[in-house]
Amino acid sequence: MDVIDLLIQQHREVDALFLAFRNASDDESRKELCIQLAEALMLHTTIEERWVYPKATRIVGDDKIEHAEEDHQEMTKLLTDIVGLRDDMNAMKTKVDSLERVVKRHIADEEQNILPQVAKNITEKEIGMSCKDLVREASKIRREEMKDWGEASV
Ligand SMILES: [Fe+2]
Ligand SMILES: [Fe+2]
Repeated sequence: MDVIDLLIQQHREVDALFLAFRNASDDESRKELCIQLAEALMLHTTIEERWVYPKATRIVGDDKIEHAEEDHQEMTKLLTDIVGLRDDMNAMKTKVDSLERVVKRHIADEEQNILPQVAKNITEKEIGMSCKDLVREASKIRREEMKDWGEASV
């Protein structure tokens, strides 16, 4: 598996988590899925911001990458709100809907306008790290970033 496949696989995992949230039958599962969503998305955006976007800028241009980073900031803000709202299920569901809209649009944009264009430049060889090491390094950073998020920082 190369880095592009890892990123696309992570997109599908996030899609699946949103679907599982919609289909969840009780609040406990919804809360657990929100934490999984936060962890999956923060891990993924860390990999992109640290290792992928810097290489993508010169290929797809600053504007596209700045826009993508703004999407990530919006996603992070919504995720912190969601994790903080675990005791107010209706408010949490509304925020998850907003998050899903932002994430789906962002993922579609990346898969159309960024990732195919940079696939050759973000191989394990180009990045100098295996997918396994990327995930391990990003997990450490992600844990540090989510330390203040309360219980989500598992
Ligand atoms: Fe992204
Ligand atoms: Fe992505």
